[in-house]
Amino acid sequence: MSILIKGGRVIDPLNKIDAVLDILIQDHQISKIGKNIQAADAAIIDAGGKIVAPGIIDMHVHLREPGREDKETVLSGTAAASKGGVTTVLAMPNTLPAMDCEENIKLLRGIIAKNALINVLVCGAITKGRLGQELNDMAKLKRAGAIAISDDGSSVDSDEVMLDAFKSAKQYGLLTVCHCEDKKLSGKGVINLGFQSTRLGLRGISNESEYKRISRDIDLAARADTRVHIAHVSCRESVEIIAKAKKIGLKVTCETAPHYFALSEEDIVDYDTKMKTNPPLRSKEDVAAIKAGLKDGVIDAIASDHAPHTENEKDIEFDRAEFGKIGLESGLAISIMELISKKVLSWPELVEKISVNPAKILGINKGSLGAGDDADIIIVNAEKEFLLEKSKIISKSKNSPFIGRTVKGLVEYTIYRGKVVYKN
Ligand code: DOR
Ligand code: ZN
Repeated sequence: MSILIKGGRVIDPLNKIDAVLDILIQDHQISKIGKNIQAADAAIIDAGGKIVAPGIIDMHVHLREPGREDKETVLSGTAAASKGGVTTVLAMPNTLPAMDCEENIKLLRGIIAKNALINVLVCGAITKGRLGQELNDMAKLKRAGAIAISDDGSSVDSDEVMLDAFKSAKQYGLLTVCHCEDKKLSGKGVINLGFQSTRLGLRGISNESEYKRISRDIDLAARADTRVHIAHVSCRESVEIIAKAKKIGLKVTCETAPHYFALSEEDIVDYDTKMKTNPPLRSKEDVAAIKAGLKDGVIDAIASDHAPHTENEKDIEFDRAEFGKIGLESGLAISIMELISKKVLSWPELVEKISVNPAKILGINKGSLGAGDDADIIIVNAEKEFLLEKSKIISKSKNSPFIGRTVKGLVEYTIYRGKVVYKN
C-alpha cells in the first residue's frame, strides 16, 4: 500500500526542511520526498495549505492499563493519541500493579502488542511498588523492554536510593525521568501556593517543593555521571536551575505540558477540579517563564501528562479530587494557539519540542521525514477553528480543563508506520 501526500508545507527540522513538497510512503516507510512526485498506484492525500510534520512523540502519558481500565486502556488511550496527532507515547509506570518487575512489563507489552494503535514505549518504575524504598532490578526491567525509569506521581525521597537509581540507569542505558516534588514541602497542598490558594482557602504547593527537588536530582545525576530528564516543569525557578545546569554542561533535559503555558492559577474558578493537577497551575509570572524557557531552548520538550480520571474521582470536593487532566487530544491545538499564534515559537521550533527533541531524549529513530524514515506523519489544518467538546472526547475519561474552548489547528490525518490510524 502506498500513499502520496501532495503539496503540503513539510516541516522537518532535523533535515532543515520547511517547504511545499510531496511525500511518498511505501509500506511502513517514507520512500521519497521532493517536488512533483508521481506514483500511479498510490492513494493521494491533497495536503495543499496544510502542515505536514513528523508524528508527535508524547513522552508523558498515563494509559492506566493494567489496573484502572475504567479510566483508560491501551486501546482507548492510543485512539485518543491518534486523534491528537500523537504516534509515539511513553507509558508511565504508575499502573496497578506498577511497572516494577519483568512480569508486569511483559504483561503490559503483551497488551500493547495486541491493542495499541500507535507506538507505545514503556517506562519502568524506579522502586518496588513506587514506594521509594527498594530499587528495582534495572537489568530485568531493561530485558523486559522498558526504555526509561520513573516513579512518576511521586518522587524518590531517599538520596541514597535515587543515587543508586541513577547509577543503575546509567549501567543499563535507561533514561531516568524525574517527577520532582518534595512532599515534606508540598504536603497536603492542592493548588499553587499564592493569592489563589488564600482566596479559595485551599492548601498551597510552593514552587520550592518542585525546584529544590530538581536541584537535588540534577546533583545526584551529575554524581552518577549520567543524564536526567525532568518531568512537567511548571515554575520560573525550575527553568532557571535547569538553565544553569545546562550551561555548565550537565546532561539535563526537561519537558513542560500545555497546561503550564496555557493556564495559570487564575483559571481555577468555582473550585473546578479539572484544573487540579500536580504540579499545580502556577502564577502568571511562572507561565511567562515557561514560555521563555521554551523559546530559548531550556525546555526541550512538550508532553501532555495525559492523566485520565473518572468522574467519580473528579466530581467531588477540591481537596479529595485526584490530581491530573487529560491532554492527548488537545495538546497540539493548545500549543498552536498559545505558542504559534502568539508568536512564541515558529512551526519548526514547535515541531522540535513535540517530536524531534522527544525522539532524541528517548533515543528512538523517529521525529524526521527523510527517505527511509518510519512513516509517522501528521497532516494538520493549522487555520481550522473548532470547539473542544466533551461529547467528542475519545479518551475514556473526560477531565479536560479545555472543554468549551474554541481552538485552532485540526489534525486531519495521523499516519503511523504508513497506515492511516486517524482521519478527520
Ligand atoms: O497530576 C498528576 N497526575 N500528576 C502526576 O504526577 C501523576 C498524575 C496521575 O497519574 O494522575
Ligand atoms: Zn505524570
